[in-house]
Amino acid sequence: MFPLRRNRRLRANAAIRGLVRENIITANDFLVPLFVVEGKGIKEEILSMPNYYRHSLDTLVTEVKLLWSLGLRSVLLFVKVPDNLKDNKGTEALNADGLMQRAIKTVKNTCPDIIIMTDVALDPYSSFGHDGIVEEGKIINDDTIEVLAEMSVSHAEAGANIVAPSDMMDGRILSIREALEDEGFVDVGIMSYSAKYASAFYGPFRDALDSAPGFGDKKTYQMDPANRHEAMRETEMDIDEGADIVMVKPGMAYLDIVREIKNEFDVPVAVYQVSGEYAMIKAAAEKGWLNHDEVMMESIMAFKRAGADVIASYFAKDVIKLLS
Ligand code: PBG
Repeated sequence: MFPLRRNRRLRANAAIRGLVRENIITANDFLVPLFVVEGKGIKEEILSMPNYYRHSLDTLVTEVKLLWSLGLRSVLLFVKVPDNLKDNKGTEALNADGLMQRAIKTVKNTCPDIIIMTDVALDPYSSFGHDGIVEEGKIINDDTIEVLAEMSVSHAEAGANIVAPSDMMDGRILSIREALEDEGFVDVGIMSYSAKYASAFYGPFRDALDSAPGFGDKKTYQMDPANRHEAMRETEMDIDEGADIVMVKPGMAYLDIVREIKNEFDVPVAVYQVSGEYAMIKAAAEKGWLNHDEVMMESIMAFKRAGADVIASYFAKDVIKLLS
């Protein structure tokens, strides 16, 4: 008798497929990145990220209300810093009245219960466009992590719930954790970009924030895409230093890393579907070469299947609208 097992039985119709489906996507899965700029009444589309915008604080209010009404409960804030405020040490990052600090307060006032995560890295503030302090063409690790710790405290003072260091300096999680504890911010969490690769998929993001490195590349701190074991070492170190959530970035090209980290460690795992991934899908859809909504949903489902607990994605709003 052959075949004894007919796997197609459980695929015969939508009802049976629904019954045996292993993963579902909900609004709880998402973390929504938001780009903030100075000014008033600004909602400007990012050239290489169709239908994604930079917001001034007033239009940010409208956007955050919309996200909340859709059931989205976490945002990740990035700021575009005016050129005249950039320097090598990222001094503006510590300004209690800086754009990030005002953005945090604005979101908090708009939706007190939304989870506010903030990007912690020097690149948007750096005259060199690097994630750390530069000396003689090198990125200086230990001086940088001191600034990152101060920056994290400043975000916590403004009302951030979770700081998200995206810089890939060594030892920064411990230095941030200690600074937060010292200042009494024991409930402020850390989502660490633990396995962040030196990736060409970040291109559109650097357009969005005008934060491309002025010289060289980020390969002395971000990881080599060839490496897998190194991702485990980085992640283990960040957890030991106090990370509450660890992240893999980019997403689609690194699903093997997501799964391996999920299997190995017991903290929540986040994945970042980065700007280039978004841009690729948008561009192919614009040309009529791919079905936008279907590819979008499939890409998000792939993150869940790979084991992601948190998905940072520029598609969050579109996905939830499609689901409801
Ligand atoms: C900066 C930062 C980057 C991204 C998030 N934080 C860019 C980089 O490292 O150059 C990329 C996000 C995206 O491409 O969507 N530290």
